[in-house]
Amino acid sequence: MTAPQQADSGRVALVTGASRGIGYGIAEALVARGDRVVITGRNEEALAEAVRRLGPDRAMGVPGKAHDEAHREQAVRRAMESYGRIDYLVNNAGTNPVFGPMAEVDLGVVRKVFETNVVSALGFAQHTWRAWQKDNGGAVVNIASVAGLAASPFVGAYGMSKAAMINLTLQLAQELAPGVRVNAIAPAVVKTKFAATLYEGREAEVAASYPLGRLGVPGDIGGAAAFLLSEEAAWVTGQTLVLDGGLFLNAGF
Ligand SMILES: NC(=O)c1ccc[n+]([C@@H]2O[C@H](COP(=O)([O-])OP(=O)(O)OC[C@H]3O[C@@H](n4cnc5c(N)ncnc54)[C@H](OP(=O)(O)O)[C@@H]3O)[C@@H](O)[C@H]2O)c1
Repeated sequence: MTAPQQADSGRVALVTGASRGIGYGIAEALVARGDRVVITGRNEEALAEAVRRLGPDRAMGVPGKAHDEAHREQAVRRAMESYGRIDYLVNNAGTNPVFGPMAEVDLGVVRKVFETNVVSALGFAQHTWRAWQKDNGGAVVNIASVAGLAASPFVGAYGMSKAAMINLTLQLAQELAPGVRVNAIAPAVVKTKFAATLYEGREAEVAASYPLGRLGVPGDIGGAAAFLLSEEAAWVTGQTLVLDGGLFLNAGF
């Protein structure tokens, strides 16, 4: 079924890693309010299916790896060729290929995590800035994680990369103002393929530690991203919005 849509807003968003999960939830929220979206992902078939569900009149896919500079250049060029503008960039594609103690972690894997999660986000921001936002303004949202705000056992390399993404958000927010606002979203566990090992088979038990009584769903992140990428957030920049169902409320005594 194609997602419900408002009249065309005239705005265009590039959302990386959006064939499923949080990225798809963000693309769906933006399309629902009338934006057009350019979405990326590695698996071509899954990306084409996501475009079909979003509505081919409002969405196009550019397959490729976020950590490939040629793909980043191509995604931005094709967005400009097809839609003529890129108001919004959502750096969502991310990876966590390693679990285990930091004292033992393979440094090659840590480099890969940083390349995909941090360097890619900066690369997309550079291309989008040069192609459109430098002269026309816009907004960027980086999908970080609560793992970037606290020590999390077994996902240390991932947490380091998300902390770097939060600082990247600060750097870009300062540098690209006043024309471009840059914010981050730091979710706790959201029910997606990526996070399935953290809750599958014991969801009620995991959700019990969340004051709001449930884990996140992609639509929770989609709504917040749509706000940050809107005129309602015109005075918000450099912020990291923690979306955690209240999880961090439990961090005290
Ligand atoms: N789910 C959570 O609990 C949670 C919490 C905090 C933060 N996050 C962050 O949210 C983001 C999205 O995660 P998710 O949970 O939605 O994951 P997901 O359900 O696995 O979806 C990931 C999406 O990104 C694409 N993708 C993955 N690696 C890519 C790459 N190297 N280049 C281009 N596309 C890539 C995937 O498609 P292909 O596989 O076809 O490429 C898919 O469309 C990540 O940055 C993650 O760190 C997630």
